[in-house]
Amino acid sequence: MSVHKEVKKITTHVLQEMKRNGEKISMLTAYDYSMARILDDAGIDVMLVGDSAANVMHGHETTLPITLDQIIDHASGVIRGVERALIVVDLPFGFYQGNSRVALDSAIRIMKEAEAHAVKLEGGFQIKESIDRILSAGIPVMGHLGLTPQSIYKFGTYVVRAKEEEEAKQLIEDALMLEKSGCFAMVLEKIPAKLASQVAQDVSIPIIGIGAGGGVDGQVLVLHDVLGINKDFSPRFLRRYANLYEEIKGAVQNYISDVKAQEFPNEKEQY
Ligand code: KIV
Repeated sequence: MSVHKEVKKITTHVLQEMKRNGEKISMLTAYDYSMARILDDAGIDVMLVGDSAANVMHGHETTLPITLDQIIDHASGVIRGVERALIVVDLPFGFYQGNSRVALDSAIRIMKEAEAHAVKLEGGFQIKESIDRILSAGIPVMGHLGLTPQSIYKFGTYVVRAKEEEEAKQLIEDALMLEKSGCFAMVLEKIPAKLASQVAQDVSIPIIGIGAGGGVDGQVLVLHDVLGINKDFSPRFLRRYANLYEEIKGAVQNYISDVKAQEFPNEKEQY
């Protein structure tokens, strides 16, 4: 029986039950009220107010520039559009690395001001103190390992991570630590499918993959990539389900030509 169709609200516990039942978890990013309403109505399980907002909503090259105020603003809109999905919000770069008190304050602001359900942090042992402190305040934490985009300047490239044995071993240790600390789930980004599938078997919490193959407990993608709004990004792991760039452009061009030709508004479209 499908767990997710039965429940009115997805919680972290529902996700864990879905893993136990072998039912896959669907997750997409969302950054605003209107899109969140559509995604929730469609039945998505989890929405991530990702720091990818820096790219797709603000036009930055990396995820690093987004601020805590900006992410809270996006998350507040998303929350108001949602009845059922679990809303996870990224802690932006600079708001949890190095100082666990800042991490806790940032997570509390996200939960209080946006009324989010959980936060997501990138990294393993290096940020353990921040994870522990946030969890101790009763805030659910989702981990994120593999290609962690906030570390792009350390990696130097967006290629697949953990292909070599040493990095793969470290990733498994980090994943076990996240589970033991009490994280409710984790994202694994752009790592070999075999490794991701092994982690999904080794830990009891849900593993949500992006570019990590089908042997994990769920999938996440960036909404603008899935809908084809962002047409310049075509990694191998991406499947596009619409071509909204061209559809929106065509609709706007039709509107422009109707206005210019004085065909809009017509008699029925005025008072
Ligand atoms: O910010 C984001 O969109 C993410 C996903 C890629 C997992 O972290």
